[in-house]
Amino acid sequence: MAPPSASSGSSSSPKVVLVAGGTGGLGRAVSLAFLKQADRVIATYRKQEELDALKAAAGLSGSSLEGSRVDVTDEAAVNQMMEAAVARHGRLDALVNTVGGYASGIKLWELDTKVFDLMLALNLRSGYALARAAVRVMLKQGTGAIVNVAAKAAFDHGAGAGAYAASKAAAVALMDSLAADLKGTGIRVNSVLPSIIDTEANRKAMPNADFRKWPKPEAIARVIVYLCSDAAAVIHGAAVPMYGDS
Ligand SMILES: NC(=O)c1ccc[n+]([C@@H]2O[C@H](COP(=O)([O-])OP(=O)(O)OC[C@H]3O[C@@H](n4cnc5c(N)ncnc54)[C@H](OP(=O)(O)O)[C@@H]3O)[C@@H](O)[C@H]2O)c1
Repeated sequence: MAPPSASSGSSSSPKVVLVAGGTGGLGRAVSLAFLKQADRVIATYRKQEELDALKAAAGLSGSSLEGSRVDVTDEAAVNQMMEAAVARHGRLDALVNTVGGYASGIKLWELDTKVFDLMLALNLRSGYALARAAVRVMLKQGTGAIVNVAAKAAFDHGAGAGAYAASKAAAVALMDSLAADLKGTGIRVNSVLPSIIDTEANRKAMPNADFRKWPKPEAIARVIVYLCSDAAAVIHGAAVPMYGDS
């Protein structure tokens, strides 16, 4: 893959992009990367202060940002949000799903089944609901790009993280099969697989780690923007590792 820059391969007209979890650790960087190249971003959020902070960080391009408060594991709510977005903008060029959750450090037989269900909801059902809603819109357009954020754990199944690893592996399988469904339609679907990301939350949780080894949210965001661009037209059904030096 060509090394991407934030604007690499972007078409001249602004895109309409839905960034699910668009105010989170990675999602914020993804939202800002699209805004930087003058795209219109609909960011789903849960906390008003996170949306306000994103708007402030976006500066002048914040006028191209809108927030949508929605639980992306709720299919009916996602469909409603999608209908409203398409009514406003007339199209959806790209969907990036950065919603996810993490649980580890507990053996499977000791795991609360509620945690197992939560991992499936955040890491698998989110992408399922969002992709189904987006694909219906994109099929009418005959064009579109979807990027779902999985994790290195989809392929690397360490002890104590069975529910997380299984939910991420299933998310990769779901997108891979969807990519096969969509061959020849003009819609591309890819997964990205970060290892531990250099987010504020991870720095707090692992203060003694070597942060330099972790992939930066901005670097991952640049690749995601590239995958959504016309320059990446040949990349479909990929699962792209983003491990930095870790
Ligand atoms: N961080 C890492 O080291 C790492 C490593 C590998 C893969 N990943 C994956 O990368 C993605 C982004 O990770 P991150 O670290 O940026 O996570 P994050 O900071 O927790 O961001 C996720 C965002 O999604 C929101 N969200 C959670 N549940 C939601 C729901 N049901 N509906 C709508 N929004 C919801 C969160 O809101 P709240 O803050 O209110 O919960 C948050 O804003 C995830 O898929 C994650 O699994 C992360």
